[in-house]
Amino acid sequence: MNDSSHRPQHADALLSEELQGAPTVVPAQPTHTKKLYLESYGCQMNFSDSEIVASILDGAGYATTRNEEEADLILLNTCAIRDNAEQRVLKRLTQFKQAKRNRPKLVVGVLGCMAERLRENLLEQQKLVDLVVGPDAYRDLPNLVEQVHGGQKAVNVLLSREETYAEISPVRLDANGITAFISIMRGCDNMCSFCVVPFTRGRERSRDPQSIVREAKELFEQGYREVTLLGQNVDSYKWNIDNKGQIKNADEPVVRFAELLELVASVHPDLRVRFSTSHPKDMTDDVLHAMARHENICKYIHLPVQSGNSDVLKRMNRGYTREWYLDRIAAIRRILPGCSISTDVIAGFCGETEAEHQDTLSLMREVKYDMAYMFKYSERPRTLAERKFEDDVPEEVKGRRLREIIELQGEHSLAGAERLVGQVHKVLIEGVSKKSEEELFGRTTHNTIAVFPRGEHRAGEYVHVHATDRSSVTLRGTVVPAP
Ligand code: 5AD
Ligand code: SF4
Repeated sequence: MNDSSHRPQHADALLSEELQGAPTVVPAQPTHTKKLYLESYGCQMNFSDSEIVASILDGAGYATTRNEEEADLILLNTCAIRDNAEQRVLKRLTQFKQAKRNRPKLVVGVLGCMAERLRENLLEQQKLVDLVVGPDAYRDLPNLVEQVHGGQKAVNVLLSREETYAEISPVRLDANGITAFISIMRGCDNMCSFCVVPFTRGRERSRDPQSIVREAKELFEQGYREVTLLGQNVDSYKWNIDNKGQIKNADEPVVRFAELLELVASVHPDLRVRFSTSHPKDMTDDVLHAMARHENICKYIHLPVQSGNSDVLKRMNRGYTREWYLDRIAAIRRILPGCSISTDVIAGFCGETEAEHQDTLSLMREVKYDMAYMFKYSERPRTLAERKFEDDVPEEVKGRRLREIIELQGEHSLAGAERLVGQVHKVLIEGVSKKSEEELFGRTTHNTIAVFPRGEHRAGEYVHVHATDRSSVTLRGTVVPAP
């Protein structure tokens, strides 16, 4: 999938890796008599979904807690993208099964992408959980929990063609009060042959643009200064128009992704807008021009390539060739000079030859990504690749190819950060640096982290930072007057 999710190779990634599996908390209110402990794994979309789950259960009297010991209800929002993600969750569920021995009233449930695939195994064979709920069935959670209290196991893994949770106000979990996610669509229709997402999250559907803009406005009024618009393939966002290009309602405007971006960017010039993830086959110049027109749309694009070889891309069913991809990169460089670009790469996909792997390395040398999320291919059940191709690249070859990819990217990431040293960057302050109380950190439009002395500044402010140095890919500098 195009969620920039599992990201162990980057400083930014480390931040979100730390978040993985982290409990999320909202303050208790007097009407909330029960406690929910919620752990989220995987992509940003899952973290965003957990905020919807917390909102729905908030309505049913649940306050969230960071302390699993005091929970009445434990929910794991799970990820199925690669086998190791699933293994982590299964381990965690075994721990909770132990906990249930001493706390017979404790209810444990699985949400998200592992729900549909593993429901029988989890509920019946291993008896690990009481409750299994898929990504489109969260509104049903209060009923399902009641059903469990009535002594039954409860399941709802139905996928929907319409559900977007459009009007549900997410409860912002573990919020820094400055940056937030907004889901703009759900599901994916692309069927990349390696990817399990179309099976776990169902068909693509876009959310009403008015509800998106309303959410952005509310966030801005609450003091938030950055929103990230989330979808598996944001470039295919569409409202009031069907897949064949037919307008549904002549009285309403058609909104595609470029227009949506401009609508959200127009909420306020001080509200930064990011988005994830773009798809090379669908990313139009319109989107790039919209980014160029608005200073507050961040100049950073995550454009997963997966492989640098056209035959592999064909087997992956990605819908573009190496040349097409490089043309999209050229368009970014032309329309948005200096824009930072990141990617996802898979090493050792079915049938990948040494020459094909070399093509990935040569494409990386050509593009010089600022950052990348890099993975070994992991075969997923029911996918096209599982049915059509053999997972025939030996584990040690996959490992070696991945190491080569990581090493090359390391050089490019450092060189990219080095180029930013000596320049002045507009930075949105997100908080106090983890390493020192005396320093603040924030991000540049290019999504690079910058650290600088605290002075009189506060989170949520914009400052200009003269980058004087870097440690790894983090910029260090001092605040200077706006140029
Ligand atoms: N094996 C390895 N990596 C995968 N991804 C998706 N499915 C698989 C898989 N089966 C990667 C892709 C995607 C990112 C989110 O995860 O690179 O863009
Ligand atoms: Fe992304 Fe392709 Fe998976 Fe869709 S099928 S989520 S586009 S990798």
